[in-house]
Amino acid sequence: MKRCPSLVDAGRRSFLTGAGLATAGAAAATVLPAQAKAAPALALVKYPASRLANLKDLTVNEPHNVAYPDVNAPGVLLKLGTRVPGGAGPDGDIVGFTTLCPHKGFLLTYSTGDKTLNCPGHYSRFDCEKGGQQIWGQATQNLPQYALRVDAKGDIYAEGVDELIYGRLSNVL
Ligand code: FES
Repeated sequence: MKRCPSLVDAGRRSFLTGAGLATAGAAAATVLPAQAKAAPALALVKYPASRLANLKDLTVNEPHNVAYPDVNAPGVLLKLGTRVPGGAGPDGDIVGFTTLCPHKGFLLTYSTGDKTLNCPGHYSRFDCEKGGQQIWGQATQNLPQYALRVDAKGDIYAEGVDELIYGRLSNVL
């Protein structure tokens, strides 16, 4: 069988072009890590400091509704009446949490009897005296807790959140 010389040439050209692309790709792959090293990491999220309330606004064991870090993120401030780990204020008893359940985002309600936040969706429960630790239910993480600061005038500021709030890829949009 006799081969067509044009087809043979076209085949050689394709092969050579492909080899050229492969070489260029390998060169680019060699160069990319150096470029990646040159770019600074941008993972740091800066939270807004937001005044949520004043000490005078809080009553022991009564939830005070707030929103943080923006108006679409409901949360709660609680004056628990006993000093707790991570508690803010002169008595070390003020804590703040998101009220969106980490499981599927149902709105949590506060139970004054055992100082827990409870989910009406699938019944997860979170201990407000233990940093929002999950004590029962479907959720797979503890409740995101606010980092709080109280200034000399008694104003209570949130300055961060320790876990990802439900439904977000970043707490600060
Ligand atoms: Fe809260 Fe499912 S949404 S446990």
